[in-house]
Amino acid sequence: MGAAGAATELAVTEWMLSKVGWQPPDSSGVLVHGGSLANLTALLAARARAFPSAWEQGTPAEAVILVPAGTHVSVARAASILGLGSRAVHPLPCDDLGRTRGERVAEAIELQHRAGRRVMAVIANACAPTTGLYDPLEAMATACRDKRVWLHVDAAHGGSALLVPELRTLLRGIEQADSVTWDAHKMLRTSTLAAAVLIRRSEDLHHALRQSADYLFFNDARTGPDLMHCTVEGSKAELGLKIFLNLAWRGEQGLAAYVHGRHQAARTLWRMVSARNTFEALSEPESNLVCFRYADGNDPHSEVRHIAIRDRLMGQGTFHLASSLVRNRRWWRATVMSPASDQAIFTQLLDTLEIAYQEASY
Ligand SMILES: Cc1ncc(COP(=O)(O)O)c(C=O)c1O
Repeated sequence: MGAAGAATELAVTEWMLSKVGWQPPDSSGVLVHGGSLANLTALLAARARAFPSAWEQGTPAEAVILVPAGTHVSVARAASILGLGSRAVHPLPCDDLGRTRGERVAEAIELQHRAGRRVMAVIANACAPTTGLYDPLEAMATACRDKRVWLHVDAAHGGSALLVPELRTLLRGIEQADSVTWDAHKMLRTSTLAAAVLIRRSEDLHHALRQSADYLFFNDARTGPDLMHCTVEGSKAELGLKIFLNLAWRGEQGLAAYVHGRHQAARTLWRMVSARNTFEALSEPESNLVCFRYADGNDPHSEVRHIAIRDRLMGQGTFHLASSLVRNRRWWRATVMSPASDQAIFTQLLDTLEIAYQEASY
């Protein structure tokens, strides 16, 4: 069924695999409805590798997952769905911006193993949804390889930087991971939803959802692709087609120019924030996410004000800021995604925020 859908899906995942540095048939990918499902699928594959009998026997109680600060909620959700329980999600050592300390990953795995637990997977953020900052993938991959632990890179948002030669270094080492999540509906200008889960060793994807159903899976000798046993979904939309058409229309260079342009625009916003002493930025941006806040010192109402101002802007229909809690402080998070967001709009945003903060009576 869905021959055309399967063909475009294979073409698109092959292209995405090649951007990571992998190729079929050694590596495989499948498209799913969103990054959350992609993370779940990758963790199913990790579970099958760590505990080959888990599909039949259930997940052993000693299984844990190690994650950096700011990991997307879908990872804890997947842990619960997989029967580990969200308590099995343990923090990795991070710096004060929430980036994994690569040199301490081996020790963190070792500590878990000495405590009688078994690390099923380590998660790397590329980039973190809270800050837009990238984990040190190369160091994490080395530690995971030495300890024989699955490394999953959640590049749902930041994977598209792979298309830009100047930004690719942010993802150095990604090819050494075991699995990667990469959403096309984030920075590949594709409509929601379309996400890829890419797996370095094809057999790991084929073992992820190992199941027999003789009314569906039979006649192994037939030719052609069959992706049904690789996804949580049964029927699914023709996810590959919209990525394929988008790629055909804009070209890889067109998409790369868009990603690069948004990263540069985010840096412009960051410079403008830094130039006003009314604001402070969390850090120099590495992606198109910029975290900043009003420089209000020790204002006890700071948290409430930042949230209320964000709500007020959304209520006005002027700007839609996201928000993160980092270093125990509330930050506004601007996701510079629209091609129309430019210096003039950033000036308007900062002016609007300044006025809103001065007028705030909360
Ligand atoms: C890093 C990261 N992972 C996973 C997800 C979940 O993706 P989706 O909303 O497509 O399920 C997101 C969404 O924002 C994300 O930023």
